[in-house]
Amino acid sequence: MSKSKVMVAPSILSADPLRYGEEIKSVEAAGADWHHIDVMDGHFVPNLTFGLPLIKSLKKTSKLPLDVHIMVSNPDDVALSYVEAGADILVFHTEAAKHGHRLAQAIREKGARPGVALNPATPLEFAFAMAPHVDLIMLMSVNPGFGGQSFIEDTVSRVASLSKWLVANKLQDKVLIEVDGGINEQTGARIVSAGANVLVAGTYVYASQDRTHAISTLKNLK
Ligand code: DX5
Ligand code: ZN
Repeated sequence: MSKSKVMVAPSILSADPLRYGEEIKSVEAAGADWHHIDVMDGHFVPNLTFGLPLIKSLKKTSKLPLDVHIMVSNPDDVALSYVEAGADILVFHTEAAKHGHRLAQAIREKGARPGVALNPATPLEFAFAMAPHVDLIMLMSVNPGFGGQSFIEDTVSRVASLSKWLVANKLQDKVLIEVDGGINEQTGARIVSAGANVLVAGTYVYASQDRTHAISTLKNLK
């Protein structure tokens, strides 16, 4: 995947649930790169959100790639259904996957780009083990489950260490670093300078009075 500039993936978790169609059009017009869709099962995380029908509907209307983040206990069983439903990027949690390499390969064979997510307390070695097999590593900067939480500062040094490791292992042009949770202008600036390529932003984009300004602010961070 190319890493030309910072990409922004607004999370529809923070959109108005009664107006998803209009909401995704609004962030597309405002310059979003991807739509981030948080699938939560009420088991891996203490919240329940979207399933396959919403992904299928969004796929019909969306002009942008769907970045589907599955926070579920059984990704090995369900990930491919989300690819069939329309996920362009399928991110599963390393803490939940039983056979990470096999799952990443199966996602790729189904035609989507595989990504692996790490919770804030998960050692980076889990990312190193999966890096040669995925297109994207997502470092969670909050404990997953809800929008609107505060950014965990340790994420900045974790992004820097991962970025350095990718360079040392000649994977920096193949694997994107995505960061998810509590991102705004200030926290975004610190993680972009540490090496992040894709910023997920729920509250910061969807609750903004001026979504075009919010997205361009994040995209222009250096
Ligand atoms: C948290 C989700 C995030 C969330 C981000 O479990 O994975 O994608 O929507 O929301 P903000 O940007 O409000 O922290
Ligand atoms: Zn997410």
